[in-house]
Amino acid sequence: MSQHAVFADFPAGRPRRLRRDDFTRRLVREHALSVDDLIYPVFVAEGNGLRQPVPSMPGVERYSLDTLLPVAEQCVELGIPVLALFPVIDASLKTPDGVEATNPDGLIPRVVAELKKRFPDLGVMTDVALDPYTSHGQDGVIDDEGYVINEITTEILVRQALVQARSGVDIVAPSDMMDGRIGAIRQALEANDLIHTKIMAYSAKYASAFYGPFRDAVGSATNLGKSNKAAYQMDAGNIDEALREVAMDLREGADMVMVKPGMPYLDVLRRVKDTFHVPTFVYQVSGEYAMLKAAAANGWLDHDKVMMESLLAFKRAGANGILTYFAIDAAKQLRRS
Ligand code: PBG
Repeated sequence: MSQHAVFADFPAGRPRRLRRDDFTRRLVREHALSVDDLIYPVFVAEGNGLRQPVPSMPGVERYSLDTLLPVAEQCVELGIPVLALFPVIDASLKTPDGVEATNPDGLIPRVVAELKKRFPDLGVMTDVALDPYTSHGQDGVIDDEGYVINEITTEILVRQALVQARSGVDIVAPSDMMDGRIGAIRQALEANDLIHTKIMAYSAKYASAFYGPFRDAVGSATNLGKSNKAAYQMDAGNIDEALREVAMDLREGADMVMVKPGMPYLDVLRRVKDTFHVPTFVYQVSGEYAMLKAAAANGWLDHDKVMMESLLAFKRAGANGILTYFAIDAAKQLRRS
């Protein structure tokens, strides 16, 4: 018997009956987006009074700590649970090994400490990866051929994660795709009594062309030039490999896992959720945001409708939460509805 045989055939069965009225549509809706699902990624730079628009991401700006505070306050007011920080590092501080990432007085630890002081109940999450700090724009230390060296990179990532955890961050999110980094970071956190720091692993992170605008925003695009990240981020054709990555990260101590990008990888998200039944997140990345913004700006798509539909699709595909540059706008929409 097919799983649909429990419904009467036409004409006794008329699926449109439940679609006719708003109240039944709401009553039988299977999935819904809530403000609790949203994580807001923001770009933060040194300076004062900075509000620098990112041209390829309309509505997104780079903030300095002082201008970020009202944004954080708005997240609190709207009920957005987590703010995810991405640093824009001064070119003079970028080196081949990205060691500025481990500076306890660096930009990110200072911003985290201040945010946690002012808004203790707002979750703060930080990216563990070296690309904003390296002179070549890769996520780790490279050899003569430009190949990112796994273990040397992981050692620096561990130091970066420890510095972030000591500054009071709630969630560290390794986005670098080195093998074994979740285990190394978890061990170091445990050894340093940082037992409450959560790890959200970018487990199934693909080598995607949809990250373009983000690389403009953090200023790693020109450094990266024509080289790519295919030797560590995943191949777009793979899904079994995503499950293997998630399994490894969970065994190594991840509390939450992530699939990235989002809209072109909804199948991966669904498979991960159905296979592991763990808190699973998705990143609606910069290029997805830019695409929707551009079409809306041209009047080709209805901005708010496609925004909400795209976010609901992540919920339907199994996401427990979504990193999205639309977080503030979506939270406002949810408040109105
Ligand atoms: C850094 C990192 C990237 C993103 C999140 N963390 C870029 C990359 O891997 O090149 C992309 C986010 C986005 O495109 O919105 N490792």
